[in-house]
Amino acid sequence: MAIPQSFLDQLKMSCDIESVVSGYVSLRRAGRTSKGLCPFHSEKTPSFFVYHDTESFYCFGCGAGGDVISFIMRIENLGYMDALRFLAERAGIPFPEEARDDPSLKIKPLIFEINRAAAHFYHDQLKSEAGAPGREYLMGKRSLSTKTITRYGLGYAPPGWDNLRGFLRGKGFSDEDMLLAAVVARGRDGKSVYDVFRNRVMFPIVDIRKNVIGFGGRVLDDSKPKYLNSPDTPVFKKSRNLFSLNFAKNVQDGRLILAEGYMDVIAMNQAGFDNVVATLGTSLTSEQARLMSNYAKEIVIAYDSDGPGRTATNRAVGLLEEAGLKTRILDMKGAKDPDEFIRKFGAQRFKMLIEGARSVTEYQMGVIRAKYDLGSTEQRGAYLQESADYLATVASSMERELYIGKLAEETDIPRDAIRESVNRALRRNLRKARKKEEESFESGRNFARAGHQADESAQDGLLACLFHHPDWRGNIIARLPENALSEAAAAIYQAILTAQLEDDGSLSAVGRRITPEQMSRLAGILARVSDGQLSITPEALEDYFRRMQGGRLQKEIRDSANLSMDEARALAEKIRQSKKV
Ligand code: CTP
Ligand code: MN
Repeated sequence: MAIPQSFLDQLKMSCDIESVVSGYVSLRRAGRTSKGLCPFHSEKTPSFFVYHDTESFYCFGCGAGGDVISFIMRIENLGYMDALRFLAERAGIPFPEEARDDPSLKIKPLIFEINRAAAHFYHDQLKSEAGAPGREYLMGKRSLSTKTITRYGLGYAPPGWDNLRGFLRGKGFSDEDMLLAAVVARGRDGKSVYDVFRNRVMFPIVDIRKNVIGFGGRVLDDSKPKYLNSPDTPVFKKSRNLFSLNFAKNVQDGRLILAEGYMDVIAMNQAGFDNVVATLGTSLTSEQARLMSNYAKEIVIAYDSDGPGRTATNRAVGLLEEAGLKTRILDMKGAKDPDEFIRKFGAQRFKMLIEGARSVTEYQMGVIRAKYDLGSTEQRGAYLQESADYLATVASSMERELYIGKLAEETDIPRDAIRESVNRALRRNLRKARKKEEESFESGRNFARAGHQADESAQDGLLACLFHHPDWRGNIIARLPENALSEAAAAIYQAILTAQLEDDGSLSAVGRRITPEQMSRLAGILARVSDGQLSITPEALEDYFRRMQGGRLQKEIRDSANLSMDEARALAEKIRQSKKV
């Protein structure tokens, strides 16, 4: 399907590569480039660059590169068209008309419509006579106010197998439509269709654009499963959304509270905290961590105080720190979760709890401390060892010193001895990190090198000249030796030509015509031009031609090992000529 150029131009204007990339990578700007830690491979020193002149990115570590569209394709794991859609949605640009004729694109609005109707149905049921058990549960047992129930659009799915189905059919939706939204399911016989949510209180899940994307439903008693969540559908990806982000995103005080469950979020909201989100019945993902980093700099983890809650906390801490978020952890005593805490001790005490949330270091030191009995000399040694190993992972030397002091006091071991053991662990970690980084850099380089021809840099240079100097095109076409380009370089060459003749010749226009790997290579070429490693002057172009010519002649010699004396002499002369400046 052809995408109108006007749409692409508009998209490009509104999706500045730096602002898009900084949603995922924390970038530091220096002149015409910005750099940061590559999101596509693991590294400790930045080799990921964004170039403002060509609106491109390139990682010198792993060789990933391209324009803003390639970036979204890679990081969101989308195809070209979906990446365009993603960017258009982000920028609030309507997708072109022709695209809307594509049947697969009508599915999303249809599912939103069904979900919205279903949410209304559940909410109306809760308010009706039939909703008494739901009201009894939410208002009686969970102390939610009418205001909170309205704000979250909470509902009640009555018992029975086709209440919702009957309602939606009355609105003109078919079973097939409802199955797409996954509010009904197909029976084992493969024919019958029944309501998924029955006799449950309902939590609609709303995205930041106020679409109802799915549901969570809770039983009213102790039966199992306690919660039932919509499966992933074309509009609902559990790993990419957060419950209540539609409210939390508006707070803008730089802080979000991350809870484990729907009820915790709603209870905190009722207690006056709007900046709370929760995952959707799964553990936190790196995508969700990045999503949060678009709205906040600091996260307070308010998970359950039990064992599983602590495991989940440890996992979340890692993901949040990787996303560049400052993280603190709620130290909740006397209640199993925030909802229970607020009901027991009130909103005021909960506010104090938030203010007093501990740093990750304090939390981790507490976790380690709880494992040991300091009365035993042996355990005291093990405690110090584990604490020292942990402190060696703490970046701030001041913070390390603080805890070294605390440890000394607690165990009666001199500060210096503890400090020495922390420093030893620090040196060990540093050695390990260096080694790992060297290895990953080397493997990235080898990968980039694999399969390339000897005169590859001349080919890259030629492609750079063609890209940056469309006015040299005629000269280049006329003089390019036959078979001088590898298969990949030839594909890029063709794409640049076509993009210049039929489009605006931009990186994006070329990108549409080559594979992601070829796009990475082109972005790498442009990165080297920006860095001054690859020259695009007329003299350089002459040099590239010469080197490609040489490469071709050597190939000729190889290919025809049994030349006559005369032929060999002629060839040798040709080579001498070509090497003269
Ligand atoms: N969850 C789920 N399926 C279950 C149990 C839990 O998807 N069978 C998810 C839900 O998103 C729930 C969250 O995990 O909100 C937290 O679970 P839990 O701590 O058991 O729930 P609470 O929020 O404490 O639920 P409640 O207070 O209603 O008992
Ligand atoms: Mn709970």
